[in-house]
Amino acid sequence: MRKNVIAGNWKMNKTLSEATQFVDDVMDKIPSEDKVEAIVCAPFPYLASLAEKTKGTNVKVSAQNMHFEDNGAFTGEVSPVMLKDIGVTHVVIGHSERREYFAETDETVNKKTHAAFNHGLTPIVCVGETLEQREANETKSLVETQVKKAIEGLSNEQVAQTIIAYEPVWAIGTGKTASSEDANEVCAHIRQVVKSVTDEVTAEAVIIQYGGSVKPSNVDELLAQSDIDGALVGGASLEADSFLQLVEAGAK
Ligand code: 13P
Repeated sequence: MRKNVIAGNWKMNKTLSEATQFVDDVMDKIPSEDKVEAIVCAPFPYLASLAEKTKGTNVKVSAQNMHFEDNGAFTGEVSPVMLKDIGVTHVVIGHSERREYFAETDETVNKKTHAAFNHGLTPIVCVGETLEQREANETKSLVETQVKKAIEGLSNEQVAQTIIAYEPVWAIGTGKTASSEDANEVCAHIRQVVKSVTDEVTAEAVIIQYGGSVKPSNVDELLAQSDIDGALVGGASLEADSFLQLVEAGAK
């Protein structure tokens, strides 16, 4: 049985005191780790203090991006070594906003996924189509290419530990959610793609999240689907109460 993973992606939001307050508010109310995994994906400046604060609790701390090199002349970048060193456990890779605004490609996503595993970080790899691609009926082939490229060269064991987030770009921050059946169809396709390049055991183990306007009012229906194992949530993860409701839904 796969466990749900609920990750709140704060994107470029919150001050340090707001971030700290959020974690204080949710930390002791998160259900136990065998029921659900709860992750906050915070901006870089807050990661060290949030990781320190949540040590020993069931709140994991994730970065929203990183470079694939260990160190070097890459002004403004943050490496996997640094993230591991400060207690970060997860890293979001290939979010559509990074693909769209910061030239992230399937190739850099693959390098970053390898770098994450090389340093003991769990990658949350994002894939998903634009509205134009959906209307052109390209969703499945696009997502297939993105997934295959992202996990290329990983061992089956590493693939099994990868979290894949299916986030249709047209559903992000728009209030438009894919219907749970449509979301599940793509997530099931992703699992088939994983199986085609690994094996059945690996495909059954991999966590596939849905993301795109997930909120407390639609999360139950999404999580009830056969191939959706959690959610990557933007807007509705910014308030502690709302995040807690999502995590509690994941623990059911
Ligand atoms: P929203 O939940 O705000 O649509 O954002 C989804 C997302 O991009 C999470 O990474």
